[in-house]
Amino acid sequence: MKIAVLTFESIDRRSSKEDSRIVQAARELGHKARIFRADKCQLVYDRHNPRVFYDGSVFPDYDVIIPRVGLLRNIELQAALVKQLQLMGFPVVNTFHAISRAKNKLRTMQILDHFDIPIPKTIVVRDLKYINAEILKQVNAFPVILKTPFGSYGSGVVIAESKRAVMSALSFLWKQSGVNIILLQEYMKESKGKDVRVFVVGNKVVATMIRSAKKGEFRSNIELGGKGEKTVLSKREIDVAIKSVKVLKLEIGGVDIIRSKKGPLVLEVNANPGFKSLEEVTGVDVAKAIVEYAVEKAKLVKLTKEEA
Ligand SMILES: Nc1ncnc2c1ncn2[C@@H]1O[C@H](COP(=O)(O)OP(=O)(O)O)[C@@H](O)[C@H]1O
Ligand SMILES: [Mg+2]
Repeated sequence: MKIAVLTFESIDRRSSKEDSRIVQAARELGHKARIFRADKCQLVYDRHNPRVFYDGSVFPDYDVIIPRVGLLRNIELQAALVKQLQLMGFPVVNTFHAISRAKNKLRTMQILDHFDIPIPKTIVVRDLKYINAEILKQVNAFPVILKTPFGSYGSGVVIAESKRAVMSALSFLWKQSGVNIILLQEYMKESKGKDVRVFVVGNKVVATMIRSAKKGEFRSNIELGGKGEKTVLSKREIDVAIKSVKVLKLEIGGVDIIRSKKGPLVLEVNANPGFKSLEEVTGVDVAKAIVEYAVEKAKLVKLTKEEA
């Protein structure tokens, strides 16, 4: 098989190392693989014949593409490139539709809640005037969590201890994110700065770790100094993680779960989860699992085309 890894962030060193890990894993499994850079792709619209050019000529014939969508703000533009590759007929893991849903925390919460997947109580606010005692009571303030819809690496997640803090954090986040929407979320005290990262590929949990925030921090993100350790998931946690990935129509997903008194609560599902520290902590070859899944998908698509 010929496997293309489409990278979106040449500047993000962690991400580019992981891209190379996927290529390496693919070659070890006997496949051809290489990295393609999103910034070298041009979208061509030409009478119902959508194409992607790479470095001046039509994107070469690959059996499957693994887009490693980055954390930049222009997620819709990134998703548009993924979509165009799909329109050209390439099998893609994850698909553009799943990526654009998962990258938006508001959409994610909406879909998870719709499918009865437990999430922390969340209220979407669009104007400061609606921050009143009633709303705050509903999310068990204080403290309360504020989230921008498109944050990552913990960057758009804030904790506020008072109404005054909520108001100033809100106007700051709105300016920063350029979107007048914020998620006001119940703070799960019992998490004590810990959450579980579950890496799902297809219908299976591939690896998992419990992450603990560094001292004085409530966010467990590794990028913010959080530390990962091995953990064993309960049956319920496995079910919740797999279902979360499935309802978002993702094929590869990193599910963040808080172990609350009420049971597992899903915070978000990452469409292009990092796996470097997960591999270090668990010893699992996550890159290999990704490649194996992509190859299976490519085979299936080939078979369907041959039958048609
Ligand atoms: N409602 C919450 N209660 C307690 N901790 C939270 C809550 N929401 C987020 N956190 C902490 O903040 C981290 C980042 O939040 P998350 O929603 O995963 O955003 P990001 O996309 O930036 O990782 C989580 O991993 C968790 O440690
Ligand atoms: Mg997260």
